[in-house]
Amino acid sequence: MDVKAAVAYEPGKPLVVETIHLEGPQAGEVLVEIKATGVCHTDAYTLSGKDPEGLFPAILGHEGAGIVVEIGAGVTSLKPGDHVIPLYTPECRNCAYCLSQKTNLCQAIRATQGKGLMPNGSSRFSKNGTLIHHYMGTSTFANYTVLPEIALAKIREDAPFDKVCYIGCGVTTGIGAVINTAKVEAGANVVVFGLGGIGLNVIQGCCMVGANKIIGVDINPSKKALAEKLGLTHFVNPQEVEGDLVAHLVELTDGGADYSFECIGNVNLMRQALECCHKGWGVSVIVGVAEAGAEISTRPFQLVTGRVWKGTAFGGARGRTDVPKIVDWYMDGKINIDDLITNVMPIEQINQAFDLMHSGKGIRTVLTF
Ligand code: APR
Ligand code: ZN
Repeated sequence: MDVKAAVAYEPGKPLVVETIHLEGPQAGEVLVEIKATGVCHTDAYTLSGKDPEGLFPAILGHEGAGIVVEIGAGVTSLKPGDHVIPLYTPECRNCAYCLSQKTNLCQAIRATQGKGLMPNGSSRFSKNGTLIHHYMGTSTFANYTVLPEIALAKIREDAPFDKVCYIGCGVTTGIGAVINTAKVEAGANVVVFGLGGIGLNVIQGCCMVGANKIIGVDINPSKKALAEKLGLTHFVNPQEVEGDLVAHLVELTDGGADYSFECIGNVNLMRQALECCHKGWGVSVIVGVAEAGAEISTRPFQLVTGRVWKGTAFGGARGRTDVPKIVDWYMDGKINIDDLITNVMPIEQINQAFDLMHSGKGIRTVLTF
């Protein structure tokens, strides 16, 4: 079939919105009509050409929501008409990783997903016979896309696509880091580095579990008001701190943070996030994605004296199990998504959406089809 897609032909070049060809779903696959998609830094990173695993041409996009149109042979958990959120971290419930119950990093389709292909090693996207790659197994910058059944979370039908698409990445990453990875408990003091699309969701996760002090660190003071609306108790602008930031944060938390989260992707801040944690038990979680090849450092004594360094991908969430629950939280008014979606525009304006993200204005832009 013909579909409308934003194609990334070359690194660093604007996307081209045009008609391309999509083949129907094969065994174990599902055709989904994408209704809305968020634009995330990971898409921009790959488009920039800095992602060593980036493939071109490709249909980027990994934060979508839509409706099942057609199912391939053997698909049992979904039917046409079901509302779904694509999962760049699938959940097969069958591989050693899923069965371990210790990680959400399902490996069932990892190899082909990393090559921009469906599990059988081919692509469903093409233009005039030339292969176009899938991306993160999702490719949501197209009004129709094909995904493996294990990479789709079935969600309730009354949830608005242009809001819950954000649960496909940013919301789940932030809230999941708090609930699944750090397991923050009520009364904890928390420091969050970076109050963007991820950090703000870490804040609302901390608020949800009843954290005590929720301290946000950001160089952009315009992020303060929304962060406070979501539960921030103290805003720290490193540029206004006299002396050492870490010492200031340790003082603010009466000896160190019980939990800290790095939501920027900066290895220097990752170190500060670890070192502002409380001696003996503080846990620091790396959420931001640093550039390929970057390395973190600290003195081992920081760990010897009880601080713990952790990381999280997709908030440690098992997508098919956890994403529908987070949609319920949104629909029940337990979490705020509406205020975080600061722009909605048609897919035709996708390059503008990337510009907006780079400008640091607004939090999330959602594209509709
Ligand atoms: N010190 C403090 N705050 C900073 C600094 C710094 N040196 N540099 C940037 N920031 C702040 C920005 O002002 C912004 O508010 O970090 C925030 C980052 O937010 P976004 O740009 O919205 O990024 P976000 O979508 O939250 O993603 C953050 O997670 O998924 C990854 O690839 C993504 O690595 C990125 C990170
Ligand atoms: Zn698995």
